[in-house]
Amino acid sequence: MDYTNLLYEEDARVAVITLNRPDKLNALNHDTLVELKQAVLAANESAAVDVIILTGAGEKAFVAGADIKELAAQDAVQGQRFSLFGQDVFNTIEQSTKPVIAAVNGFALGGGCELALACHIRIVAENARFGQPEVNLGTIPGYGGTQRLAYVVGLGRAAELILTGNMVNAEEAHRIGLANSVVEKGTALAAAKEMAATIAAKGQVAIRLALEALRSVPQTSLRDGLTTEAALFGLSCGTEDFREGTAAFLEKRTPEFKGS
Ligand code: COA
Repeated sequence: MDYTNLLYEEDARVAVITLNRPDKLNALNHDTLVELKQAVLAANESAAVDVIILTGAGEKAFVAGADIKELAAQDAVQGQRFSLFGQDVFNTIEQSTKPVIAAVNGFALGGGCELALACHIRIVAENARFGQPEVNLGTIPGYGGTQRLAYVVGLGRAAELILTGNMVNAEEAHRIGLANSVVEKGTALAAAKEMAATIAAKGQVAIRLALEALRSVPQTSLRDGLTTEAALFGLSCGTEDFREGTAAFLEKRTPEFKGS
């Protein structure tokens, strides 16, 4: 599949999807969102991929938001559709059956912050800046930010970020739980690949089941979530990887997982 606005590469069981409009700080226009969804679905389908990384081209930006030129042309009805479309793409990322790591290499603003929030893990370069500056444009986050940001950093901090439009640096993003870790400028992708390799070395059935249990967290009560966990735990106990992993531990050797 050929893409115009992003780069797609598979190597060592990892798909790297790079938003590639550096002259526009990788702003998400409609065509880019269409391609992003296709690329995430392609990586989910690919038998050669266990982990997906999302990043931005260039040193300056992960994604500087929805494309403001396109945004400016929306009326009320179109605006709702614009929001629902972006939400659908980001839901696809969140619902990915393979882990998605954001390698945040610079500005993650508006839709860029929301995109990082839709990923399961965020590794952040020290020059990254996060923010939801939509109020500066007379609008609000529309790609999940009001919900996922509140979920990740708590209501009070989400309210501050969304109502002031202020940016936070990587260190502050780490402090409030928005970033999993902070790495040197220019090394976010390498750090994400390192984490992806760690995940790819595990039994992939267990990885999928763990992700499925984690994905259910925002939608379920503790009671229902625990029921789901027990069912998925039981499923994992029926796999060859489970036999191999437990046997390898008891025999003091490294497991050889087959993903079955
Ligand atoms: N949509 C469309 N184009 C964007 C964009 C966006 N969200 N963010 C940046 N760009 C474009 C700029 O228009 C500029 O294009 P041009 O060279 O054709 O004029 C180019 O990317 C570089 O951006 P510029 O503003 O010149 O860089 P900067 O270093 O001065 O500032 C930012 C960087 C990120 C602070 C600034 O670009 C910005 O505030 N962007 C918008 C962030 C935002 O509000 N996002 C939420 C959108 S809902």
